[in-house]
Amino acid sequence: MLLKKNSSMIQKDKKIPCTLVIFGATGDLTHRKLIPALYFLEYQNHLPKDFNIVCVARRNKSPEEYRKEAKKSIKEFSRIKIDEKILNSVLKKIHYQKLEFGNLYDYLGLIDFLKSINGMDFKCGLIFYLATAPKFFKTIINNLASSQLSGKNKKFNANKVAFEKPFGKNLWTAKLLNNNIRKVFHENQIYRIDHYLAKELVQNLLVMHFGNSTFEPLWNTEFIDHVQITVAETLGIEGRGEYYDKNGSLRDVVQNHIMQLLCLTAMECPESLSAEHIRDEKVKVLKTIMKSNNPLKDSMKGQYVSGIQDGKKVKSYLGEEGVRKNSKTSTYFAIKFCINNKKWKNVPFYVRTGKHLADRATEIVIEYKKPKNKLFKNHGYDLKNNQLIIRVQPDEGIIFKFNAKIPGNKILIDQVSMDFCHGCKFGPNTAEAYERLFHDILNSDQTLFARWDEVEYSWKIIDQIRDAWHDVKPYSYKPGTWGPKEADKFIKKDGRSWNVPKKPSYSVLLD
Ligand code: BG6
Repeated sequence: MLLKKNSSMIQKDKKIPCTLVIFGATGDLTHRKLIPALYFLEYQNHLPKDFNIVCVARRNKSPEEYRKEAKKSIKEFSRIKIDEKILNSVLKKIHYQKLEFGNLYDYLGLIDFLKSINGMDFKCGLIFYLATAPKFFKTIINNLASSQLSGKNKKFNANKVAFEKPFGKNLWTAKLLNNNIRKVFHENQIYRIDHYLAKELVQNLLVMHFGNSTFEPLWNTEFIDHVQITVAETLGIEGRGEYYDKNGSLRDVVQNHIMQLLCLTAMECPESLSAEHIRDEKVKVLKTIMKSNNPLKDSMKGQYVSGIQDGKKVKSYLGEEGVRKNSKTSTYFAIKFCINNKKWKNVPFYVRTGKHLADRATEIVIEYKKPKNKLFKNHGYDLKNNQLIIRVQPDEGIIFKFNAKIPGNKILIDQVSMDFCHGCKFGPNTAEAYERLFHDILNSDQTLFARWDEVEYSWKIIDQIRDAWHDVKPYSYKPGTWGPKEADKFIKKDGRSWNVPKKPSYSVLLD
């Protein structure tokens, strides 16, 4: 349904996009995600006619060499079987240009190249995708402006620009960056990527909440006890020590992915499915998140030490390359958020994320209050709370846990679950986030991209937490566990416990 809406609500550009320029073309993200996603779009016939993909990076490379690498990446990372004909046709669209991000002359060379493939008069739109380290964003934007490729230049008003995260390091740097970009591009030309927004089950949140009369009326403080959001990873920092140590889990995952999940869970019904209405409602949530009087009490950070995970030795975070010896950077964070509105009065949102945890699982757990009637309580039963679990990944699905009678002469009650297996119903190959994101950029649909005020309000919240913990030593935890034991105490003091993500019953069907 959302897709249907998107195609009908897409604003029509005067110019059809004809070229995607990827900055940072030799990086890991481009090879693992972007190029395979473009292969998929070609497979689906979703790339516009005569489309070009111009990959630019600092290294010296011939176009043939780059195509060879791109071919290898598609073969290695594509989620669908390779069709040689389609592979060749997407490779034909790929070009390579050497470009020093800081060298204006290289941009003039890029313009010449773009003219040579698109025609002198640029009758079509260009998409600039910045898949570089964030420290290059400003330089690239300034040089796009100096070389007249700016989106505010009348001739290029159909151009678009996409940014990978993180968008700034705090509110102040994000504002500076945004002001810089806004001098060169209009907000409707800017696509701030948060790939979590393009995950199928994240998009499903809106449908679950507002498309079901069994859930919608109960989605509030009257019926919900609390909400938990977990983004747990078994992986570590994967050679990204230098980047990670400057950011930590708070900036890497909480400020963007988790805040988006929280907004989509907590938002009120938008006026329509338009990008602006949906984003307006998300911003309202961010604006009503209460400032904590004591962030050190309402959040906690952790860092993994050395240990064994799945039979393999794991180095301590402090032993990772690129990490400072006495680093206090978090690899785990847990936070309790409270929302100051009628819908969520007294309903805490507990969120947590961490590297090298016991299992890979992203899920949203909505835990309901006990039934209002006292029938079973009066007979000494201790009923478990109903839970609605949105399993974002892996084993995508929705699980509803409720109480049922165990067969027999007596009334014995157990918690059972109704599981919706997304992969069983719709097939195991759900769209990769980047396929959807490219599709939407091409079609000028900004719904799944963060608007500036979302980023702004999110940083306001995160800055306060980060400032409080900045100089505080993190709690340590062993790899392969669910984080520091203090994290359990953290939620226990409110009389609650973390839901341990479990493989849903249907996961055997998916294997
Ligand atoms: C990225 C973070 O944004 O998200 C990574 O920089 C993290 O540290 C990743 O591993 C998680 O994404 P996914 O899609 O694998 O859950």
